[in-house]
Amino acid sequence: MKVGIIGSGGREHSLCLSLKKSEKISEIFCIPGNAGTNLIAKNVDLDVENFEKVKDFIIKNKIEIVIVGPEKPLVNGITDYLVKYDIKVFGPNKIASQLEGSKIFTKKMCEKYKIPTAKFGIFKNISDSKKFLKNCHYPIVVKADGLAAGKGVFICDNFEQSSSAVSEIFNGKFGDAQNVLIEEFLKGEEMSFFIISDGKSYKKFGTAQDHKRVLEGDKGKNTGGMGAYSPSKHENKNLDEKILDRIIKPTLKALKDLDTSFQGFLYAGLMIVKGEPFLIEYNVRMGDPECQTILPRLNTDLANIIVSCVNQNLDKIDIEWDYNKSLCIVLCAKGYPEQYEKEIEIKNLSEIKKNADEYIFHAGTKNNGKKIFSNGGRVLNFVAKSSEFKECRDKAISLIKRLNWSNGFFRKDIGYKVIDS
Ligand code: AMP
Ligand code: GLY
Repeated sequence: MKVGIIGSGGREHSLCLSLKKSEKISEIFCIPGNAGTNLIAKNVDLDVENFEKVKDFIIKNKIEIVIVGPEKPLVNGITDYLVKYDIKVFGPNKIASQLEGSKIFTKKMCEKYKIPTAKFGIFKNISDSKKFLKNCHYPIVVKADGLAAGKGVFICDNFEQSSSAVSEIFNGKFGDAQNVLIEEFLKGEEMSFFIISDGKSYKKFGTAQDHKRVLEGDKGKNTGGMGAYSPSKHENKNLDEKILDRIIKPTLKALKDLDTSFQGFLYAGLMIVKGEPFLIEYNVRMGDPECQTILPRLNTDLANIIVSCVNQNLDKIDIEWDYNKSLCIVLCAKGYPEQYEKEIEIKNLSEIKKNADEYIFHAGTKNNGKKIFSNGGRVLNFVAKSSEFKECRDKAISLIKRLNWSNGFFRKDIGYKVIDS
């Protein structure tokens, strides 16, 4: 079977590697892919926002299933578009993608279905927002509605910070957000919780803890993700049940009431407050770098799982996991998440010898002839599996040191909440 993967990050490289292992798959096309996917699949240089060109390529090359990695094409309706041409797509439709595309859609759903989440207000202009912010308790969280690549969220300690956040949002710094969301600050511990669904049934798809801030000790600016580990230290049967009963099931019911359903990966970003789960946000895709962290622990053939999802018989599949732990460290270009240089050569990648439980996924890389160059802020992902998180981290750091890429930096403390020293 021929499959297509849309996207170009570490998440897509890890999806590609897992699918490559399946006997079911004869050929993989990555649209557009990166220098890592180029080693194991065929990269196709197409603009993924040009749905018509993507559709023409898929039909011409007889691609049977398309897996959509990132949120933007999903929120823009790529699934609905391709399905009209009888193409099987793994990824939610446009309405279900509102769970990520509009924070206000999700908050209103939480209100209606009594899903635990931070208390919130929706504000349509600067002056109403500031009036509210003058008299509220701090810290408080200010968010732009709509997609902002993880950057439209401000945790504010005082009026000065919150009022400048509101001004930035309404002045268009994070796209054309028409509304801001002002939320109660929840103090707890974060957890990423994943399910996979075929639109009729769903299964758990692992947990992880992401590290979003750029500096060690969770300081500095928010990023797309500097590293992750899996499973989350909070994962246990009792909490799982609370998450499924109070958050996941009511969400799937809410979509059903809208005459639709969720097919694809659903990622719940949670805050665990004194053992109770609260929904912070939904993403309608796998996380990045959570995907790179979780997939190496998957023992079941990913192609079988995806095929069963697009054919709506996921209930026939058992998903099995490696008992080992996994940890991922992201190597970034110096300066990220602000200004950073691109097109710096990465030498000796191919010479690094890895063990079977070690992985190097490409994120922001591209080829220039046979050479590999950086092409983004998050450049490479180093993942290791082991029975101990400390050993995972030591192995990942050792791989990074062997690469010795002088333009890069990384957090050495990924997993510090589960590693003592
Ligand atoms: P989001 O893009 O909504 O996931 O927010 C980015 C990050 O901001 C989250 O991963 C949390 O660390 C933090 N955050 C968002 N909303 C809240 C909240 N209501 N209380 C505390 N932290 C929050
Ligand atoms: N790692 C966070 C995200 O994928 O949104």
